[in-house]
Amino acid sequence: MPEPTEPTSALPPVNAQRPRRVRVQHLEAAKAAGERLTMLTAYDAMTARIFDEAGIDILLVGDSIGDNMLGHPNTIPVTMDELIPAVRAVTRATARPMVVADLPFGSYEASPTQAWESAARMLKEGGAHAVKIEGGRRVAAHAKLLTEGGIPVFGHLGLTPQSENILGGKRVQGRGEDAAGALLADALALQEAGVIGVVLEMVPAPVAQRISDQLRIPTIGIGAGAGCDGQVLVWLDMAGMGSWAPRFAKQFAQIGTELKNAAQAYAAEVRDGSFPAAEHTYWE
Ligand code: KIV
Repeated sequence: MPEPTEPTSALPPVNAQRPRRVRVQHLEAAKAAGERLTMLTAYDAMTARIFDEAGIDILLVGDSIGDNMLGHPNTIPVTMDELIPAVRAVTRATARPMVVADLPFGSYEASPTQAWESAARMLKEGGAHAVKIEGGRRVAAHAKLLTEGGIPVFGHLGLTPQSENILGGKRVQGRGEDAAGALLADALALQEAGVIGVVLEMVPAPVAQRISDQLRIPTIGIGAGAGCDGQVLVWLDMAGMGSWAPRFAKQFAQIGTELKNAAQAYAAEVRDGSFPAAEHTYWE
């Protein structure tokens, strides 16, 4: 009887004794093999470790840290100095996932050189394995300089939250033939510049499907339908941590309610004196 063999995958095995990192060559290989990539945001060591154990392929230290963790109204105020410690925590705590650091608003748009300086900090100080920038043809030269200099880059098209003021809010992008064609041209320009994947946010599913079909590199969708080569969610939306989540996010748990229940139960037991009980107490 032959030994049962592990199903083969284009990606490194999950929970291996000696885990191997997900690296750039695995992403295109996964797309070619028709394997969907999994990506979640992470902002700290504790959750990053859990997501690594869960087998998530890519962790994004997103500028969504601003509105999800730091109490900002949106991503725009986030700075490099706020993001770098989070990137460092996530890279330190994980063994298998590729760790991608967002370049925050104002840290890269002005020139390829500015992008280089910020991206290099994310790798040198944060230990990131790749960076993500928002925009298409307007940042293609930036992406080219980074990739030619040895920094893997993800693009981000569709709803680009850093531009929400010019987009008129968080609205679906790429509706209509002209807008869809412009998105495809942006995606092709990023691929030509050497990016390793493109996040498509709030794009009609047929448009995302068309872009995914035309690219060699993987697309990672968020509110862009099932035709993308992978999916990403903000982890708090995925786990039901907040009281609200966007329509495109499925809440796979109700962690926020669980946490609140735990805190209320703790407070009640402290107040009535039942915690700490004998088993929690050292007498000598
Ligand atoms: O910052 C972030 O979390 C993101 C995702 C929404 C893709 O860019």
